[in-house]
Amino acid sequence: MISFQKLKIIYNNELDLLKDAINNSKNPYHTFTLSSINNNIPELRTIVLRGIDKDPFKIFFNSDVRSPKIKQLKINNHCSILFYDLKRKMQLRLQCKASIFNKDDISEEIWYKTPLQSRKCYMAPYPPSKKIENWEPNLPKKYLKKDPTRKDSEVGYKNFSYIQLEVINSDILQLHHDGHIRFIVHKKTFSFISS
Ligand SMILES: Cc1cc2nc3c(=O)[nH]c(=O)nc-3n(C[C@H](O)[C@H](O)[C@H](O)COP(=O)(O)O)c2cc1C
Repeated sequence: MISFQKLKIIYNNELDLLKDAINNSKNPYHTFTLSSINNNIPELRTIVLRGIDKDPFKIFFNSDVRSPKIKQLKINNHCSILFYDLKRKMQLRLQCKASIFNKDDISEEIWYKTPLQSRKCYMAPYPPSKKIENWEPNLPKKYLKKDPTRKDSEVGYKNFSYIQLEVINSDILQLHHDGHIRFIVHKKTFSFISS
């Protein structure tokens, strides 16, 4: 038998691991898969975890505002994200609602703390996912092998967006030889579901 108390312990432990993963690239939760809807067709991509709020549960990431994913999330802000820890056989599937911050106080605060090396991505001359005739690095030529100056990096600010994913419900699954553990957390209520 597994008690609801035990489920809460499992859940809180996963939130702690998500928190650790923000700055720990060895933690498997450092990246996750984000799905959005493109004209009724789901699209997936890998994203780096940049932040988490535990209560209420929120996930944060950075993206180029010109990218298709952001356009899709503007049309339909419902999305799903997936974290997987191979060693512990733990899967977190989260249904979320996205809010996009661009050229506002929130994005400005995050941009201020963004290292120059990361700011460079937002100085890309082509918008992400644009068809190009020949391969070329989509980075400012002057800064291919070095970080931009702080002053020059500011041209990237308009393209930078910070995305908040408000978690609506969490589907937690851990595989075990003697019976998988699976439960849903919705509005702080825990329910067992079959695996
Ligand atoms: C390891 C890894 C991490 C990535 N992290 C991000 C990220 O944090 N934000 C982002 O917008 N794209 C990130 N990408 C790129 C996306 O996966 C995707 O290829 C790109 O943004 C285009 O997506 P879209 O056309 O669906 O908008 C990452 C890709 C990889 C391989």
